Order: sequence, then C-alpha cells, then structure tokens
Amino acid sequence: AIGFTIDAADASGDGGGPVTLVERERRSGRRAAIVWLTGLSGAGKSTLARAAERELFERGIAVSVVDGDLLRSTLNTDLAFSDEDRAESVRRAAAVAGILAETGHVVIVSLISPFVSDRARARDAARHPFYEVYVNAPLATCEARDPKGLYRRAREGAIRSFTGIDSPYEPPASPDLELRTDTLSVPEAAAELVAFVDGVTAPS
Ligand code: PPS
Repeated sequence: AIGFTIDAADASGDGGGPVTLVERERRSGRRAAIVWLTGLSGAGKSTLARAAERELFERGIAVSVVDGDLLRSTLNTDLAFSDEDRAESVRRAAAVAGILAETGHVVIVSLISPFVSDRARARDAARHPFYEVYVNAPLATCEARDPKGLYRRAREGAIRSFTGIDSPYEPPASPDLELRTDTLSVPEAAAELVAFVDGVTAPS
C-alpha cells in the first residue's frame, strides 16, 4: 500500500502506530506524572517548581513546568479571579499538564488553586499519577515577602479577591507532600521536592 494509516488501536508500541506513553516512558526511563503545587501567592511555588525542574533536567529527566502566573498571560487572558474563573484556570492547567504528561514528561504544576473542590477535580480528571504538594508558608510570611507588591495593593483595596486577603485559601487536608517554606531554605525545600519526584517517578 502507498502511504500509511494511523491506527489508534495499535498501542502496542512496536512501531508503525501512534507513539504510546509506554514507549515514551521506556525511552525517558521515568514514569510520567503530574506534581501539583498549591499554596498562597508568595509561598514559593514557582521558585520551587523551577529549582526542581533545573535539578531534574540536569539528571536527564523529561520535565516541564506549568506555571499559573505564566498561563494567565497566555492561555488564560480571558480569566480573572472570581471563584468560577479560578475553577476554570485550574481545569485548563490540568488539561495542559495532562497533554504534557502524555508526552512522557514529569509535569510540575504551580498554581494557587485555592479550592479543595477544584484540586479534587484536577486529580479526578488526571489520566496520569497525580500528586498534591502543599507549598506552605503562613500568610504573614507571604505578605512580608510580597515579591510582586500584590499583598500591599490588595490591602489598599486596589486589587480585589486576592487570595488570603479577601478570597479564601483552602489548604489540602492530606497532601502527598508538604513543604514549609517559612522554615526550610529554598535549596532544602527544592531538594525535598526533587527527592519526592524522584521517588514517585522511578521505574517500577
Ligand atoms: S488560581 O487561583 O489558581 O487561578 O491562581 P493562578 O492562576 O495561580 O494565578 C495567581 C497569580 O496571579 C496573580 N494575581 C492574583 N493571585 C490571587 N488573587 C488575585 N486576586 C490575583 N491577582 C493577580 C499573582 O501574581 C499570582 O501569582 P503567584 O505566582 O501565585 O504569586
């Protein structure tokens, strides 16, 4: 026959059909996973996601970061910070993470994702192993850090519905990992995160 057909049912990974997750994981030597970082603005989610990404990348692991703040300047420019828009932002981040995980990546998601129900939906929708990491620093610490000046503006009333100020943050009741970034240094917390990811993505 001339040309070729793509048979979605041919998931055996013996060549010819679509490239399967099994093949990708075999090549990368890691199990794909979604590692979901939740926490207040300024708790250190993005910093830890990037530090862990760097370390895992240096080890040759296929890793990527889905960052909420970055998504908000691209995919999510139509969303604000109502409860409904946050639910949608979590849903989209989970969808993007799922697409990346399907390529065999270890995906680190960094999103405030303040509501238990939204995070539960993300976990339920996930077709790859899903781990919740609580990046935990007290509000007072995050507010003192205030890396983008957003807490100050929220206190002044210039920003409405700011998480921790006039919009709630619901901490995870039983996260797979908790990182106290008020007591751990960045390298310490990043090392814990890397060790966790290393453990859960090790080939069986
Ligand atoms: S959410 O709740 O999961 O949809 O939030 P996320 O997509 O992670 O976006 C959070 C970043 O948006 C900035 N920002 C706000 N955060 C919370 N509340 C309000 N009202 C708000 N307005 C702007 C803020 O920079 C967040 O980034 P991080 O990196 O978390 O500080």
